[in-house]
Amino acid sequence: MPDGLVARLLAIVGPRGLLTERVDTAPYAEDWRGLYHGRTPAVVRPIDTDQLSRVVKCCAASGVAMVPQGGNTSMVGGAVPSEDGSQIVISLARMNRVTAVDPVDLTLTVEAGATLQAAQDAAEAAGCLLPLSIGSQGTAQIGGILSTNAGGNNTVRYGNARDLVLGLEVVLADGQVWNGLRRLRKDNTGYCLRQLFVGAEGTLGIIAAAVLKLVPRPVETEVALCAVASVEAALDLFARFQRADAAAVQAFEYMSGTGMGLVLTHIPGAKLPLRAPAAHYALVELATSRVGGGLREMLEAVLSDALDADLVSDAVVAGSETQRAAIWKLREEHSEAQKRAGASVKNDVSVPVSRVPELIDRASAACAALMPGIRVVAFGHMGDGNIHFNLEQPEHMDAAAFLARDHEIMDAVCAVVRDLDGSFSAEHGVGRLKPYLMPQWRGGAELDTMRRIKAALDPGGVMNPGKLLP
Ligand code: MLT
Ligand code: ZN
Repeated sequence: MPDGLVARLLAIVGPRGLLTERVDTAPYAEDWRGLYHGRTPAVVRPIDTDQLSRVVKCCAASGVAMVPQGGNTSMVGGAVPSEDGSQIVISLARMNRVTAVDPVDLTLTVEAGATLQAAQDAAEAAGCLLPLSIGSQGTAQIGGILSTNAGGNNTVRYGNARDLVLGLEVVLADGQVWNGLRRLRKDNTGYCLRQLFVGAEGTLGIIAAAVLKLVPRPVETEVALCAVASVEAALDLFARFQRADAAAVQAFEYMSGTGMGLVLTHIPGAKLPLRAPAAHYALVELATSRVGGGLREMLEAVLSDALDADLVSDAVVAGSETQRAAIWKLREEHSEAQKRAGASVKNDVSVPVSRVPELIDRASAACAALMPGIRVVAFGHMGDGNIHFNLEQPEHMDAAAFLARDHEIMDAVCAVVRDLDGSFSAEHGVGRLKPYLMPQWRGGAELDTMRRIKAALDPGGVMNPGKLLP
């Protein structure tokens, strides 16, 4: 670390904005999955864009690498510093204000460090909905969510984080501030810079604030959990809802019996609201802002036809907000349950929606052939083709021995995904875990162009090095 850098940072952010003691910096140097144990001499916590810009200028002038960090909920180690103690962590947590909500423009202006939950609450208080929902929303922050282009449960209807961004404020790698906090629906003035920073995982600059799109708050919402006969049956059920009213399908999630079993075993209070456990489940959420939208009738009609067709064997429709939350909990606790059950390898993959059954079928067979006893925990966003094809260690295997074979497992799954024209990272990003896959999947002109963009915007290589690009 260059002499005097920490003192210069302290002069910018003051004592409340700087952590240097190991006990204080340690939580910022490790990821929640426990895959990485980095080290940093300082965590800098600016209070506003001006401080952030001065911090970046200061580090850049010394050639010191910076790791921007939001809620540190990355699934791929995207927000942790390296082990050699050479990188400064910049936490956005204190830049957490929602600065404007406009129910006519249907926009929300928010600083990067606000949690998604806080942004959702502000939207709701104004009679609107911020239609982005992920399991970690109480902790994940807007800056990180945009930097990783998070997906989540509502992609089927509203797209990914990228699709909700109208404007951005970004501190560039040299500390310059680009204020692009526009809230225009039409603005056709050259390269779309904001989309360059969304999904860049902090490798091009640091998102300081954003203008997000809102929608009117739904007046009717229905949630149902169904036991379905097979993955194909779940897909058929999804198609039936799409045909009935595509605009009302807010989420359509698939869960396997194995994953549900882990949730019921490891998550206190989790209870299956159906007659008996099943091998496959679908969770559907419908919503409309139309008064008298007739959602319940539509839901019941589709479910009744699906029961007659033997696609669905049992279903429960939530009768209250508490029941709705209890059903969603069964889905949202899948990651936590898996963590408690032992070591797991995650494959956040996507394929065309129509090929999800084939993906699950073929990848399951490939993993079973690779490691007898491996437990397939496939679940996720069936409505947009993003399946978390996660693998849980065989029951009596040593966790470290299982994790040592993570690349082998990921390669076996990826071979199937590739054959089905899919992607090796649907919503978690690339981070530190998967850059090695980039040449294989995005090599040639695509990776070359990415490298040129990186070189143009961050010639010193100081923005989150070691992430995304191999
Ligand atoms: C989720 O959708 O719950 C997470 O993205 C899944 C995961 O743990 O892989
Ligand atoms: Zn997910």
